[in-house]
Amino acid sequence: SVLEMEVEQIKKGHYDHFMQKEIHEQPHSLTTTMRGRLKDHGVLLGGLKEHMKTIRHSRRIVLIGCGTSYNAALAVRPFLEELSSIPVTMELASDLLDRQGPIYREDTAVFVSQSGETADTLLALDYALENGAMCVGITNTVGSTLARKTHCGVHVNAGCEIGVASTKAYTSQIVAMAMMALAIGDDRISTKARRESIIYGLSDLPNKVREVLKLDSEMKALAESLIDAQSLLVFGRGYNYATALEGALKVKEVALMHSEGMLAGEMKHGPLALVDETLPIIVIATHDACFSKQQSVIQQLHARKGRLIVMCSKGASSSVCPSEFCRAIEVPQVIDCLQPVVNIIPLQLLAYHLTVLRGFDVDQPRNLAKSVTTQ
Ligand code: G6P
Repeated sequence: SVLEMEVEQIKKGHYDHFMQKEIHEQPHSLTTTMRGRLKDHGVLLGGLKEHMKTIRHSRRIVLIGCGTSYNAALAVRPFLEELSSIPVTMELASDLLDRQGPIYREDTAVFVSQSGETADTLLALDYALENGAMCVGITNTVGSTLARKTHCGVHVNAGCEIGVASTKAYTSQIVAMAMMALAIGDDRISTKARRESIIYGLSDLPNKVREVLKLDSEMKALAESLIDAQSLLVFGRGYNYATALEGALKVKEVALMHSEGMLAGEMKHGPLALVDETLPIIVIATHDACFSKQQSVIQQLHARKGRLIVMCSKGASSSVCPSEFCRAIEVPQVIDCLQPVVNIIPLQLLAYHLTVLRGFDVDQPRNLAKSVTTQ
């Protein structure tokens, strides 16, 4: 009805689409995710406190989710391992169910779901509860089934997300789980300095996100150059393996363009065969411990005449780009483990603009639903 349409426009403010609004809201949504939780020497997560001892004594942490929520968990995996010293494994909820994979009493199972109502994630939760694991929920929806059925958890507090393609919930889920990692590792003296620099990095993150959002028109121009591409590859590794998967998922979901995120370390084992002058490839090569490996990936793609787009740290494009034909996306640098929060934003913008330019529905992509409540 006309009234419904008017109410929708009011909710969108001065934006054309919810996805666009939610992308630009991220400095604010990240702030609300952290509100009242960051202290100088640690984090306060009331929802985990009571069970922290059990979590710290678990033999393994299993991160479980679907879609973007899985990717958010994957982004956190490296430093959850680092800060907790507990092995961390990953499960797509449907795959855990298909395999009836092992879950033990000594495990902590962390369920990540924006809606808290995804059928596969909830079934995996029932399964983990039956097997006696400590079950933690990371959700953006207060009172959701996930929030009610888990033993404890962290509310993401990103605010209601309407666009089917998840954007602000992704970055806030990463930050919520980063705080969880800090809380779990809080009893260790050896990583105290590292934890303090992450806490500082978190407090400054909304500023860095505000800065990276200024790439909007640059990403629109990049989208214009990619409008007719058949496919788009995204290579990442380390902290940004998840960024590659999530960037490609955004392009696939909303722009309806074939796109794959790939682990750069696997490039030689197949993907390299696809490389030619026409296939656009985004390589994420911001500064961290994997940087020199990514530089050699760029060199190898360049040697095979790949159509390169490099994401690098601010000021690094002239040294990272192998030729004048290579496009660069320069992003502000933050502490290595939080870089995925910054790096996904230009890719969200790219997916958004590609969708608008290709004339597809941004907020309600073909065949997809915000919350998949059936198996
Ligand atoms: C659907 C949505 C995705 C979302 C996934 C998991 O596929 O379209 O955007 O990432 O479900 O949803 P959840 O609510 O569990 O995070």
